[in-house]
Amino acid sequence: MTASASNNLDRVLVLEMVRVTEAAAIAASKLIGRGDEKAADAAAVEAMRAALNTLYMDGTVVIGEGERDEAPMLYIGEKVGTAPGKGPKIDIALDPLEGTTITAKAGPNALAVLAIAEEGGLLNAPDTYMDKIAVGPGYPEGVIDLSKSVTENVEAVAAAKGVAPADIIVCVLDRPRHEPIISELRGLGCGIALIPDGDVAGVIATTNPDTNIDLYMGQGGAPEGVLAAAALRCVGGQFQGRLVFRNEDERSRARKWGITDLDRIYTLEELASGDVIFAATGVTDGSLLEGVKRRRGGIITTESIVMRASSRTVRRVKSEHRVRG
Ligand code: FBP
Repeated sequence: MTASASNNLDRVLVLEMVRVTEAAAIAASKLIGRGDEKAADAAAVEAMRAALNTLYMDGTVVIGEGERDEAPMLYIGEKVGTAPGKGPKIDIALDPLEGTTITAKAGPNALAVLAIAEEGGLLNAPDTYMDKIAVGPGYPEGVIDLSKSVTENVEAVAAAKGVAPADIIVCVLDRPRHEPIISELRGLGCGIALIPDGDVAGVIATTNPDTNIDLYMGQGGAPEGVLAAAALRCVGGQFQGRLVFRNEDERSRARKWGITDLDRIYTLEELASGDVIFAATGVTDGSLLEGVKRRRGGIITTESIVMRASSRTVRRVKSEHRVRG
């Protein structure tokens, strides 16, 4: 992974990224609560791809819908944009619908998400799991450490915050694999915010004091880990991730992608470096964003967040879209 921090991304791209996530969110919103995860995902993918292909850039999907043989659109390595070989070289990590099951069930916190960086700025993470730990801004560097126990991490964050470990609220994906983490947290008396899905929003929640969430812990998708890291690069906070391989096939795929140290703990900067733009549009209502609303008179409203690492600007964009025809 290489990164040049010298050249920043063109700021014009900031609002362009919102158009892209808005398009995906609006398309997916037609399928909210319809019980069809695949259709919701396909609608978001198609809309995001079409929107990316209107932009002047030489874009490459580095985190996408899967490898070429398994994803017809937005596969890893797919070139997007109108200016291949001419425009700015941009690497793109995307999840057109983060929370397919949430969308199918009309649950909270489904998002259309993407992050862009200069070429080489995003870890090309294979589609495996990742152990993750994250904390919001304002803590001393190194307060979280994935190589340490749940208890040690909670105690360190509690000490830095000036509260007891029992006062710490931790967001964890509600999965059987997290039972050891959950029981250790229960032993400490921590509050646990169990989420059904959507750990990009879970990690970002640590950066928003309104959520009361101090820490994020647990195992989720590696691509979502890179996207969450990109968001934290823009707003501050700390994140560490370690790839988790379930079988030899996943290990050999990782080696194919140039990952030699399979146990490595990645820091925020190793996952997303240089200038980064992160954009997300709410599909369903959530802690980060309001979902897509279809109002009378053919008006659709969306709420998005877009932020940029080099300037640390965070923009919230509320849009009204008029259905044509
Ligand atoms: P999808 O939108 O692809 O369904 O991902 C939702 C999600 O909850 C992610 O936020 C999370 O990283 C991952 O799935 C966890 O994977 P699993 O459901 O296998 O535990």
